[in-house]
Amino acid sequence: MKQNSFVIKGDICYSADKKTLLTFKDHYLICLDGNSAGVFENIPEEYSKLEIHDYSGLLVVPGLVDLHIHAPQFTLRGLGMDDELLDWLNNLTFPEESRYSDMEYARAAYTDFAEVMRLGATTRACIFGTTHVPATELLMEYMEATGLHTYVGKVNMDRNCPAIMVEDTGKSVKDTEEWINFCKSRGFLNTKPMLTPRFIPTCSDKLMQLLREIQEKYALPLQSHLSENPAEIEWVKELCKESKFYGDAYDSFKLFGRDVPTIMAHCVYSEENELSRIKENGVFIAHCPQSNTNIASGIAPVRKFLDMGINCGLGSDVAGGASESILRAMADAIQMSKMRWRLQDKNLKPLTFEEVFFLGTKGGGEFFGRVGSFEKGYEFDAVVFDDAVPSYHSPLTLRQRLERHAYLSNGRGTAHKFVCGTQIF
Ligand code: GUN
Ligand code: FE
Repeated sequence: MKQNSFVIKGDICYSADKKTLLTFKDHYLICLDGNSAGVFENIPEEYSKLEIHDYSGLLVVPGLVDLHIHAPQFTLRGLGMDDELLDWLNNLTFPEESRYSDMEYARAAYTDFAEVMRLGATTRACIFGTTHVPATELLMEYMEATGLHTYVGKVNMDRNCPAIMVEDTGKSVKDTEEWINFCKSRGFLNTKPMLTPRFIPTCSDKLMQLLREIQEKYALPLQSHLSENPAEIEWVKELCKESKFYGDAYDSFKLFGRDVPTIMAHCVYSEENELSRIKENGVFIAHCPQSNTNIASGIAPVRKFLDMGINCGLGSDVAGGASESILRAMADAIQMSKMRWRLQDKNLKPLTFEEVFFLGTKGGGEFFGRVGSFEKGYEFDAVVFDDAVPSYHSPLTLRQRLERHAYLSNGRGTAHKFVCGTQIF
């Protein structure tokens, strides 16, 4: 029998598309050599000899995808939430990230981060590290050991940050290449490097030009922040007088989609011109609703992203977000969209549970390839939820159980997890 081939029995749910959640009570999900072979009412003859994991009564869904999380900020969850972005960065985040020059600190903090990520419902993540190469390499070692599939970035920032954090431009670039070469020689299976210029305010033109050269040389994807907060956006206007809008500044360095697989977090204030460029260039938006609430950034027009057919997924943005749970992000995304609809813009209807479940699985999963669904041929990422809660309304439909689990669990209750057909627990 092939490796990583087995059958899961349970209550199976996945998104066909952003409007359609498919649910299958007491069905069989087939994993064949690490890929899904589909969902069946009875086990087809050809798979009858495969081992069966009997998870009857439990919810089985595609692994969740976190498109935006900061590993070094894990230690800050729930702290200092009364500042807006720029003060929050200066008062709390930059001083904390500077501590990762100390490998003892990095070891302790990243051990905890990796273990929490291992035990949660997330199977794929795009992760910011810090500017420090040794600590970022250690983070990648730890992520590799979890079995999750992740992109990890050494952060670049050579201006407008405290002396303790700021990089010399040349050293930032040299360190980045050293780190990329470490990743190549180390031969990680599941943990890949991703270019990570923090955001325009902390990256000089020279640094951005040199990062584009590195991008071309190594064909790396890229992650950064975009149009998150009003003061940030005004600052970018001052810094980039030639640019038509914030995203145009990234695009002027050819670091905004097209030939560069790109994730931009937030896009709370992206207007038509920026959204059109995002769509045209195939940029992914990481919608981070809890972070946008905590540091009072605003409410992103996710309904517009969806209507325009923009690539979009969810991000926890720990520690702008206090929770690493993408289930929690699903509920937060719905709640915020309701506030936007009620208070700000009657044209943008609230998101539905179908839509946010799509964003947290297949929407974000598309960045990784055929990920986030149980359709035939998708990479087999699955999580099994024990959603047992006393119910006065039984029997609930699977859709009702899944919705309730997103609102109630806060990420707890993940009983089993598989990534690419490998069982993590
Ligand atoms: N913009 C630049 N850096 C950061 C960060 O660490 N978190 C968030 N939310 N926004 C940023
Ligand atoms: Fe962020």
